[in-house]
Amino acid sequence: MSNSIFALNNINMLRFLIAILFFTCSTQFALATEDWGRTGHRATGEIAEKHLSKKAKKAIDKLLQGASLALVSNYGDAIKSDSAYRKYGPWHYVNFPFNSTYEATEKSEKGDLYVAINSCVSVLKDKNATQEEKVFYLKMLIHFMGDLHQPLHVGLAEDKGGNDFQVRWFNKGTNLHTVWDSKMLDSYKMSYTELAKNTTQLSKKELKTIQQGTVKDWMYESRALCKTIYATTQVGDKLGYRYMYDYVDIARMQLQKGGIRLAVLLNEIFA
Ligand code: ADE
Ligand code: ZN
Ligand code: ZN
Repeated sequence: MSNSIFALNNINMLRFLIAILFFTCSTQFALATEDWGRTGHRATGEIAEKHLSKKAKKAIDKLLQGASLALVSNYGDAIKSDSAYRKYGPWHYVNFPFNSTYEATEKSEKGDLYVAINSCVSVLKDKNATQEEKVFYLKMLIHFMGDLHQPLHVGLAEDKGGNDFQVRWFNKGTNLHTVWDSKMLDSYKMSYTELAKNTTQLSKKELKTIQQGTVKDWMYESRALCKTIYATTQVGDKLGYRYMYDYVDIARMQLQKGGIRLAVLLNEIFA
């Protein structure tokens, strides 16, 4: 009698532990797939705002009903928790081997970040697209231009863009992808408005150079940074102040370039 009660309790205990384990894993998974992080995406949106033409600003204000680019910049990540939007998951990144090119690599039929950005631009230029479609793809474009400038989003398939590349950040276990999405910027302790305000002063010539090129050129620029990051980081590395000293200005410049180039696309779309 007492034995069977004990057995029942053990089964209930096991169920309880499995439930806890499942819950812990699923929340960790949700956090692991956040991208640039809320701060990075918002900073990119805020910087873009400063480079918009009057015409683009007016058209965007109408579509977003006055909401700022910073405010809507995390929409692309927010919809990940809604299964109705699952198909957009692979649109946040593009992976190909270091010894190959995007062109030479078989494309995912689910799409990728490069295709996603071009799709957003097409819908926004399409006279036959509905207002609702334009609002959706505008918010997605604002988000994806942030992702394009996160070097680990132009990454390697084998470690899921560094999500499977374990490192320590100030003595806590994490992965390289998360360091670049959020840990490094979080440790830097600047709000998105402070990041947008404290951008690098650019000469006219420097600004023009950043504005030039194509989405593909910008993708390859992120890829080059991704290679540098892999060449200087080993699995299990203990990263902290030294890593910030080496990389936080590069991350800040990526936010700035992302914002400037987002404005380039938007100014062209709404010209
Ligand atoms: N999943 C697979 N590859 C990824 C990448 N490069 N970035 C984010 N998530 C990914
Ligand atoms: Zn990410
Ligand atoms: Zn994203």
